[in-house]
Amino acid sequence: MTEQSGQSPALDNLSTESRVFPPSAEFAAQANASAQWYDDADADRDAFWATQAERLTWANKWSRVVDWDDAPFAKWFVGGELNVAYNCVDRHVEAGLGDRVAINWVGEPGDSVTITYADLQRNVSKAANALAELGLNAGDRVAIQMPMLPEAIYSMLACARLGLVHSVVFGGFSPTALRSRIDDAQARLLITSDGQYRRGKPAPMKESTDEATAETPSIEHVLVVRRTGAEIPWTEGRDLWWHDVVDKQPDTHTPEAFDAEHPLFILYTSGTTGKPKGILHTSGGYLTQAAYTHNAVFDLKPETDVYWCTADIGWITGHTYIVYGPLANGATQVVYEGTPNTPHEGRHFEIIQQHGVTIYYTAPTLIRTFMKWGEQIPAGYDLSSLRLLGSVGEPINPEAWIWYRKHIGGDRIPIVDTWWQTETGAIMISPLPGVTEAKPGSAQRPLPGISAAIVDEAGKEVPAGGGGYLVLTQPWPSMLRGIWGDEERFRETYWSRFADEGFYFAGDGAKYDADGDIWLLGRIDDVMNVSGHRISTTEVESALVSHPSVAEAAVVGATDATTGQGIVAFVILRNRPEGTPEAAVSELRDHVAKEIGPIAKPRQILVVTELPKTRSGKIMRRLLRDIAENREIGDTTTLADSAVMNLITEGLSNKP
Ligand code: PRX
Repeated sequence: MTEQSGQSPALDNLSTESRVFPPSAEFAAQANASAQWYDDADADRDAFWATQAERLTWANKWSRVVDWDDAPFAKWFVGGELNVAYNCVDRHVEAGLGDRVAINWVGEPGDSVTITYADLQRNVSKAANALAELGLNAGDRVAIQMPMLPEAIYSMLACARLGLVHSVVFGGFSPTALRSRIDDAQARLLITSDGQYRRGKPAPMKESTDEATAETPSIEHVLVVRRTGAEIPWTEGRDLWWHDVVDKQPDTHTPEAFDAEHPLFILYTSGTTGKPKGILHTSGGYLTQAAYTHNAVFDLKPETDVYWCTADIGWITGHTYIVYGPLANGATQVVYEGTPNTPHEGRHFEIIQQHGVTIYYTAPTLIRTFMKWGEQIPAGYDLSSLRLLGSVGEPINPEAWIWYRKHIGGDRIPIVDTWWQTETGAIMISPLPGVTEAKPGSAQRPLPGISAAIVDEAGKEVPAGGGGYLVLTQPWPSMLRGIWGDEERFRETYWSRFADEGFYFAGDGAKYDADGDIWLLGRIDDVMNVSGHRISTTEVESALVSHPSVAEAAVVGATDATTGQGIVAFVILRNRPEGTPEAAVSELRDHVAKEIGPIAKPRQILVVTELPKTRSGKIMRRLLRDIAENREIGDTTTLADSAVMNLITEGLSNKP
């Protein structure tokens, strides 16, 4: 652990939680998953994963389940060939399920579209024909920055169908962030929209993607979906309307089979340095684990369930549990475009009631927001269709878990707390519904086929009751295959910490309880988790110091009752800014939004004259976190100048 590290004190209460919720006999009797799977996977891991891969339709079967000879570069289902989009779309139509609803799309202003699997096949085929007509070839990269529109899903699947590698960039990222992602991947095409509906109003999108593409030489075309109908800037020759290019295409397209290790997508995520990492995922192993986990962890019954994952497709949760997992399993799902409080705070519950949602998968930050809005809001709706709830993105505190169970789940249905990462591609640690006795706040056990452990500094597993670093001890099918264009960083980030043991280092702290169940404790590196969004402290610091009036900046993630963590920045200004300090702070917040995106806007910026540093010049974020969280300042003996903390606290006019 570095000097800056240390787990969030708010999570300490996890160790005292002792309530247990066994599955109901009724649920257990119909569950997809079985306790036997743990034994099967332990007895023969490869055979277990081979069985899971049979969930997919392969054009050519693999000859070897996993090749780990060139670790940490894995190959899964060696020699196998498949088309990911065929698996998510066509095969269901061929099986006679063309009339099944794939997506009940709900627009924020109240419009809606019902998309059957046959519709999906036609729309994805048209989009694939259009991308082929634009001259894109297998292996080329396509950037997508779009709101939650059906066309975003068609675009991803059209890429998969043609072997193009998509890089979806969350809509909340700034032009600067989009540009660096386009440049890093050398994307040839950007797919976007004219605008989006956000909090009840049309908001611009094309203006900001134009700012990004003003200096991206690799981009040849920008394909624009019309959503709001707003007037938008247009570059003749480069910009193309989706309805001009896609609508006229034939609605059939023959998919080609690609190697199991053919790249499927890149998804950028924050690391401990300023530069985001392009996490690379491939086809066969990724889709196998996406389909398996979506079936087992959500207990999906494709004939009767209505599934809803509230994530945005700009994040890994949207990739795996809106697009690839559910569609590979032939699920019927709800996809919602907008914000949860538009036009009112009961919007999600209204959608659950209206569409008869049976499985609801969301993030703790939203659950805590619902708690704040009040239990009378879900109580006003009929939520009896629900039969399973899921949580992802950050540790769920026991109180939020209990509230979720009681006020949304009617005190009767299972909750699965699912731990995983952009890098893991799919769920890794989670209760199995109908099998596991659930403990509020614990992700509990690695799934059958997954091997995780909590180890000490030396890589030795800690005993029951002990805490340490979470590691993954065996390769898994949906594991990242690298960081785009940076092999060294891949080795260094994930595989160097426990190189002798060959473990993957996740960056999370965790502990075992007396039964050996796993409790996640949050990141132990300099990555913050704000409303389930991963943002690095260094990234925000770089954005702050890129402003001419900032001499130095230090950023910490402070515990926040709603968002998990909130970003608190300490800045030393270069010279006395003109105007009020409030104006300077507000300008800096806007500057961060411009550099990274609104999601990275600090909750608070504190102007200070000094920063606490060790003798070797490292900023002691631990001490800054004490200030940000209003705590007694901890041990300052390693400070180069022990008077600094007094200087900082005395000088704070805008104390937290
Ligand atoms: O710290 C863990 C936290 O989210 C990180 C991964 O973030 P990201 O790649 O953006 O993926 C989020 C969605 C999969 C992890 O390193 N995290 C995710 N799920 C949980 C969690 N922490 C505790 N409990 C979880 N269920």
